Amino acid sequence: MVYADLVIHSAQMMATLRGFSEGPACGTDMSEIGIIEDGAVAIQDGKITAVGTTEEVRADGWIGPDTKLINASGKVVTPGFVDPHTHVLYAGSRENELSLKLKGVPYLEILKQGGGILSTVQSTKQASDEEIKAQTSRRLRTMLSMGTTTAEAKSGYGLMLDEELRALRLIHELDQEQAVDLVPTFMGAHAVPPGYNEERFTNYIVDEMLPQIAAEGLAEFCDVFCEPGVFSLESSERILLKAKDLNLKLKMHADELASAGGAELAAKLGVISADHLLQASDEGIAALARKGVIAVLLPATSFNLAKNSYARAREMVQAGVPLALATDSNPGSSPTESMPLVLTIACLYLRLTPEEALTAATINAAHAIDRADQVGSLEVGKQGDVLILDIPNLNYLPYHFGNNPVEMVIKRGKVAWS
Ligand code: NIG
Ligand code: FE
Repeated sequence: MVYADLVIHSAQMMATLRGFSEGPACGTDMSEIGIIEDGAVAIQDGKITAVGTTEEVRADGWIGPDTKLINASGKVVTPGFVDPHTHVLYAGSRENELSLKLKGVPYLEILKQGGGILSTVQSTKQASDEEIKAQTSRRLRTMLSMGTTTAEAKSGYGLMLDEELRALRLIHELDQEQAVDLVPTFMGAHAVPPGYNEERFTNYIVDEMLPQIAAEGLAEFCDVFCEPGVFSLESSERILLKAKDLNLKLKMHADELASAGGAELAAKLGVISADHLLQASDEGIAALARKGVIAVLLPATSFNLAKNSYARAREMVQAGVPLALATDSNPGSSPTESMPLVLTIACLYLRLTPEEALTAATINAAHAIDRADQVGSLEVGKQGDVLILDIPNLNYLPYHFGNNPVEMVIKRGKVAWS
């Protein structure tokens, strides 16, 4: 008989998020989090081998003489959080922009003046590989401590080919060197660098960058900052169609600051996820629902832009759009690593229930990065990525905010943080 390496047992409440590995949960299914009381999960060789009540897992014979037992009584157990939208790889910071923001200078105006994304492009370019990795590792460690076990990571603070390749290579190295699994996205279309106009830079991305990025096999997704004044619908479509030709999967920053048909384009192209969507139109929302495009909502970014403007999450759920949640971790619009904070803001300002928010931060987030076969739920065969939360019930997760509810993080069956 093979025994489990690890059994977490006696959980007050275990949310398995089972049943949605084939397709993301939408509508009322987003509330179906698969609760087991007095729950237990067994992990062997990094993979989940049993999920049920403590009684059931014990009776199945998973507990042997060498099995490590963790008692989760009085605690909530969930899958590790999946953060499906981050710009976590960069050097430097932008706290100097706070005073501009407080004076009301718009985000895109700061970018036009050479600040914003372009200032992080400068500080990243000037940093050595080691400096970028050291700064990013610290953020990944914070993410892990706050329950994130898998994250997407975008390039996009390089903009020119060599720097973008360096960013993607560093993402791969960091993926190997620390506990949070990283899914790499090429986002050369993050801003137009000095010396280019949008059309010339789009040509450069399509003709020179994308073929090379694809040839090196360093990126799984391609993303574009589709926004009037950054990349138009036409440029975004050219870039994403070329990426699709080269077998990259597609994502889009859409309708963040202005309503300009981004959601409609996302649906037309059949991207896996459209992200931000604060200004998505009714027609755009309906189109996302028809195509099953996942809306990755980033409420910490809305909070930090401080304009009292949030995505219309309730209408999206109503329309049948599957929702995911992410930090958008970046040095400008969302300098945070905290999924628990995102869950709080999602409940208070997107008006999601704690159940919907948890679905959006786990199984639906896993779908948004095409990893739902491996992570996002506690089901037999999936990776043993599990959180023990020091809270008595699920309402407590968004309720008690601004500190860390995570007591222990299990990654592939091993204690990765406690
Ligand atoms: O998703 N919107 C564009 N990109 C990021 C911000 C990046 C930055 O400000 O450095 C975002 O909000
Ligand atoms: Fe972003």
